[in-house]
Amino acid sequence: MCGIVGYIGEEQAAPFLLSGLEKLEYRGYDSAGLCLNDGGTLVVKKSKGKLTELKTLTHNGSSLHGTVGIGHTRWATHGEPSDVNAHPHLSESGRFAVVHNGIIENYLPLKEKLMDKGITFRSNTDTEVIAQLIEYYYQGDLMDTIIKVLSRLDGSYALGVLSKDNPDEIIAVRKESPLIIGLGEHENFIASDIPAILSKTRKIYRLENDEIAVIKRDGVSVFNTDKEPVQKEYETIEWDIHAAEKGGYEHFMFKEIMEQPKAIHDTISPRIKDGRVVLNEISLTAEQIRSFRKINILACGSAYHVGVVAKYIFEKILRIPTEADLASEFRYRDPIVDDKTLTVVISQSGETADTKEAMKEAKRRGSHVISIVNVLGSAIAKESDDVIYTLAGPEIAVATTKAYSTQLAVIYLMAIYFGDLLGKITDTEYQNYLSELLMIPDKIQQILDNSENVQYLASQLFHADDVFFIGRNIDYALSLEGSLKLKEISYIHSEAYAAGELKHGTISLIEKGTLVIALATHEELIGKIVSNMKEVQARGAYVLCLATERHQELKDVAQNTIFIPPTCDMMLPSLAVIPLQLFAYYVASQKGCDIDKPRNLAKSVTVE
Ligand code: G6P
Repeated sequence: MCGIVGYIGEEQAAPFLLSGLEKLEYRGYDSAGLCLNDGGTLVVKKSKGKLTELKTLTHNGSSLHGTVGIGHTRWATHGEPSDVNAHPHLSESGRFAVVHNGIIENYLPLKEKLMDKGITFRSNTDTEVIAQLIEYYYQGDLMDTIIKVLSRLDGSYALGVLSKDNPDEIIAVRKESPLIIGLGEHENFIASDIPAILSKTRKIYRLENDEIAVIKRDGVSVFNTDKEPVQKEYETIEWDIHAAEKGGYEHFMFKEIMEQPKAIHDTISPRIKDGRVVLNEISLTAEQIRSFRKINILACGSAYHVGVVAKYIFEKILRIPTEADLASEFRYRDPIVDDKTLTVVISQSGETADTKEAMKEAKRRGSHVISIVNVLGSAIAKESDDVIYTLAGPEIAVATTKAYSTQLAVIYLMAIYFGDLLGKITDTEYQNYLSELLMIPDKIQQILDNSENVQYLASQLFHADDVFFIGRNIDYALSLEGSLKLKEISYIHSEAYAAGELKHGTISLIEKGTLVIALATHEELIGKIVSNMKEVQARGAYVLCLATERHQELKDVAQNTIFIPPTCDMMLPSLAVIPLQLFAYYVASQKGCDIDKPRNLAKSVTVE
């Protein structure tokens, strides 16, 4: 997703803008650009491809002069990735420059209208319309003009605007796309996310929807769209800059895999007090909870996979029918949701467009929404009725690991909390679940400390062209994530299949040497999955089995096995996912893939 950085101060802006954009690379991008106000002229440099291209073009920023500038990394939505479609976009006469994250849904009629007036467009982007509209409406007051332009735009946007006539300010606006303002001494900043500015300041404002900020060297003023001043409280960012950097590891993904014991500990420990789960975030009364007839889980990607695990857990423990729904499907299928449905929304970023819209749809239909979100103050967090934050810290690698794990941990907390309130679990079960949950971080650490076997297996198996992940029950839910992890970062085709469903189609794809990863952690169905392993082996498959240490006999069934410590059934995915993440990581590393930024993928998908 696009990244925005802006600087106004006393130093040359371009080198900082480039370093800020680097910190936003995790968002995914295909081109990048800068615009500097150089003595009253807006100078733009843009380049398709990685930031290194732009760095070379600008001699690391040194050849771009000026102390006021905006920068952008673009993830194409309208118009292919190219130099000309990269941001910033200038208005026709070069008087205004705009960077944008989001989508202008009505850009075509606006563009046609402006073209009818004789205005020439250079790019295929929706964003250029904004720059052209500003120039078209401008009559000497930039703020008035921006307010007028905003009233014409449908869609989502975070914007940074430079004006030739106002060389000592940057204007920033947001609606539905994130934007923060960094506050420094005689210098101020804008950015899509905190890591971009952490080297300069820890004080930030979070811009809210429809707020317009005028950023000068010595101050920031924020207004609403009626031009009334808005009083903002600044926030101090506590986390260390190194938390947003690789901390000595080769990849963010590996660092984040290693951070999982801490992330889970941080997420669960504030919510367990005196041997009880305390979820103060949930505003529902016991009576309201008892009134739910259905639970609907909405999410995308790996967060959806957490939802599928949660379906098995909630149905088993709470005995409430539970659906895990892909947010992009839910929002357009006239879902059956009402005030007797509890909606659980899961999102690391809290900004995923489909998830956000699906959530709004559920709310419109009267459902109470609990969100599980990692990014504080994000749109989903703000718009849900209750929010339970995962405390995973910033996740930079596109392929999620620690966010997935902390989301699972919140699901366990919810299952225990609701199970108790609804009288579905006994005191002994309650205590057992809690003590197992508290041991999860240590058990993950144990797996991480003994992962040479996984690394060795990856070095033997990375040539695979097709991989099938099979499992039953909660192992099936986990196989979805194992398969996604592998394919998204190693580009090996892989599929997750409910093991019992194999014989209804996929088994025809099994041939000599096909790698099948069989998840066999779910105690009750070991016998069944063993039969499935034999079925595929009979067709030539090479089976790698993942099981708990209790089932050493599986060594005799599969060609290779990975063992994890045992825990209660519901929490097995937390342990079993670790070797799967590591396997995907090591395979991708063997193949020399761009692990943290896999091709075509974005960390935060803020468009539909
Ligand atoms: C993108 C990411 C996935 C993530 C999904 C949902 O596709 O690449 O890793 O699971 O979005 O993101 P969210 O921020 O809503 O969890």
